[in-house]
Parts: sequence; structure tokens; C-alpha cells
Amino acid sequence: MKNDRGSLLLAGVATGIIWAATMLCACHARADLHPLVIVPGSGGNQLEARLTREYKSSSLLCSRLFPPVRDRDGWFRLWFEPSVLLAPFTQCFADRMSLYYDPGSDDYCNAPGVETRVNRFGSTESLLHLDPYLKQVTAYMATLVKSLQKVGYVDGKTLFGAPYDFRYGLAADGHPSRVGSKFLQDLKDLIEKATTSNKGKPVILLSHSLGGLFALQLLNRNSKSWLQRHIKHFIALSAPWGGAVDEVLTLASGNTLGVPLVDPLIVRGEQRSSESNLWLLPSPKVFDNEKPLVISPSANYTAHDIAQFLNDIGFPEGIRPYESRILPLVEGLALPEVPVTCVFGSDMETPEKLIYRSKAKGFDEQPEVVYGDGDGTVNMASLLALESLWKENRKQPFKVVTIPGVSHTSILKEEIALQEIVQEIVNIHADHVGSSYVQR
Ligand SMILES: *[C@@H]1O[C@H](CO)[C@@H](O)[C@H](O)[C@H]1NC(C)=O
Repeated sequence: MKNDRGSLLLAGVATGIIWAATMLCACHARADLHPLVIVPGSGGNQLEARLTREYKSSSLLCSRLFPPVRDRDGWFRLWFEPSVLLAPFTQCFADRMSLYYDPGSDDYCNAPGVETRVNRFGSTESLLHLDPYLKQVTAYMATLVKSLQKVGYVDGKTLFGAPYDFRYGLAADGHPSRVGSKFLQDLKDLIEKATTSNKGKPVILLSHSLGGLFALQLLNRNSKSWLQRHIKHFIALSAPWGGAVDEVLTLASGNTLGVPLVDPLIVRGEQRSSESNLWLLPSPKVFDNEKPLVISPSANYTAHDIAQFLNDIGFPEGIRPYESRILPLVEGLALPEVPVTCVFGSDMETPEKLIYRSKAKGFDEQPEVVYGDGDGTVNMASLLALESLWKENRKQPFKVVTIPGVSHTSILKEEIALQEIVQEIVNIHADHVGSSYVQR
């Protein structure tokens, strides 16, 4: 794996001196910073819901007892709320979290009678912890935001958060995408506001995981002059440019998110219904189309066979939105016309191939997993996709930083990763970011 990168430019950055010379003041808010806008990953912000009269629950339990706490107007936290881990409530959660694709309007919508919203758009508050009452275990961006505050960033002044309904995705041209498009517009407005309130300074866009795919679309859907005025730099952390095999496992057999108490088959339907999960399936543009990603007794599947795979796992209703809305979007992957830095972990065991052995159980049992290189969730080919697809003809600085031993999400918490991210932000302020490939 490492030899593949031999031809890439291995550039060491003279960190010491630059860091000392440009070290941002750690004591108070700084007025001379480029504003920073954070776009979180899937499941990376709180999501609230409210049930209307139209709502029909699958059981008395769901309608009477769950959720235990709602505010005066009926709003409650749908994501994340720890009681969903208790078996009877997992089903209530899955019902409410599910999306529906309507072939008539060619768009996705919520379950009937379920309204959803994000709170405090523009602030980083709902990205810090997924449950404000269980800060320790549900911390997400908290440590990263603390590191940014140490170099002078202040929430609402120079630091902004863009939470969104991460179950929805975006669609290729010509297909409506009400929720995803509205988010992209809100994000654009937020960036303009951040620029205006900071003396016209263009923003640094900082994304994690799925947030990188949304940010990339925003950049590629706006004019060059808009980008020049509003975007200083795009830093993408752990971005799955070409999807991940891990997502194939989720759609086929369900994913407990590492919680052993949850039956993956209870949440599988909801996970299949999510449009953004389809967006994260391995892209035929990025994955080797000779190598099967899934091996089963009756058929093998490469990234080219996703539609057939969706059919065979018992999810044929996913085929039309996948083929018409998602596939052209991932095939149109393009480098944005702004300076980019990709930062991600490597050398972590990452699902690369799934082997299903039982004809009787099919995809209802967890497969045997063959691992390869990546950040533990996203495969190396996907993390490196922007780099490998556009080695030539780059008009803007493009930098890759890999940090061995750091995982998809621990990149937001581990000291070695945080130092790297903050250093990059410092370098951007000093206009000291060229094109390079750096392994830490
Ligand atoms: C799937 O791939 C395996 C191993 O690569 C091979 O042995 C098997 O014959 C293939 N199965 C089918 C149905 O093509």
C-alpha cells in the first residue's frame, strides 16, 4: 500500500519555525481570522422531531411512552437519545427516523406525521455532543471546537456550524431534492453572512465525512467569482469521496453502530431508507471494478453491480433513486476550484470485502469481513479519490495529509490529529499551503 505512494511528492512541512512565527494568540477572540464554517458528518448533529395527528405508531408503546420527554410544543430529540438502545424503543426510533422515496414526485420525505428540524443552525452547539445530557459518551466535535477556541475562534463571531438532516442527500441535475437543496442554500447564506460580518474575509470550510460531499457540491455548484469572494480554503476531514464498503454492509445486514444490544435487523429498514446512505455506497468511478466487494453463494458484486445488489438484498425500491439520482452525482465527482486539503487517518483495518456463506440466511446474518487499508470506516481508494483522479490539471493547491493509526471519527479527538488540523488553519492564514502529500 505504501509503495503505491512512492511517486507522490512526500513533502515535510517545516512546522517548527512557521508555527512559532504565525502562532495565533491563545488568549482572546481574534478579529483578523478567516471565519470558519464546520459541516459535520452523518449523525454528527442533533436532530429534533415532532409528531402530528397524521402519525400512526406501530405500537401503543411508541405512542404513549416514547419519547419520555417532549417540550411544550411537542419537540423531542430524535438523534441522539439513549433510550433508543433499549429493544422495544429501537423500533419506535427506526419508524420515525425512516425516509420515504416517492416515485411520483421523485423526491424523499419524512415518515407520515413526523416533522423534523435541526436546532441552532449557524452555531456549533448541536455538533459538540449528540446528547447534551450525556456529554462524555456522545461527544462529537467538542474537542476539535475547543482546539479552535484556543487559537482565538469564537462561536457565532468567527466560528459557525452547519447542522443538517443527514438522512437526506442531494440528487443529480434535473431531480428535485427539497431538503438537501434547502440545506445547501442555508449553507451558502451562512458563508456569505460569515464573510460579511468579518470584513469581507473569505471563509475556511471545514467538513467531516459526509459533510465533505455536501461541501464539495456547494463549491462545484457555484460560480468562480462567488468562490473567489467567499472561500479561502476547503479542509475535508475523513471525506468518503467514493463511498465505502462499510456502507454496503449497513444496507445488506444493518449496522448496530457498535452497540451490541441493538439488533441490526431492526434498524436495517431505516438505514436502507436513508438517501445519504445510498450516496455513500462504493462508487464505480473509484473502486476497482474487477474486484468483488461482496461474495455470496449465488452471486458476486463489484461497485458496478450495486443496482443488482440492491435487488438481491431485498431492497428493489432503492434501485430507481440510486440509478437516477445518486449514480450520476457520484460519477460527476469533480475537483472544486478552491485550494483543498484532505486530512484522514490510515493503517486502520477497514472492511474491504464481505463474504456471505449461507444460502438460507442470505444477507440477514452478519458477513465475514476481509479488511484492507483505510481509516477503519472508509477505504483508502475512496479517501484518496480526489488526489488520484486529478493528479494532472490542477489549477489550485491540493494537499493530502494522512495520519496513521487515527480512525474515521477519532480524527476529531486525538491530539496528533487536532494539532495537524489547527496547524493547517494556521498555515492557511500565513498563505503557506502548497500542493503536497504528507504522511505523519
Ligand atoms: C465469487 O468469487 C469467488 C472468489 O473470488 C469465486 O470462487 C466464486 O466462484 C464466485 N462466485 C460466483 C457466483 O461468481
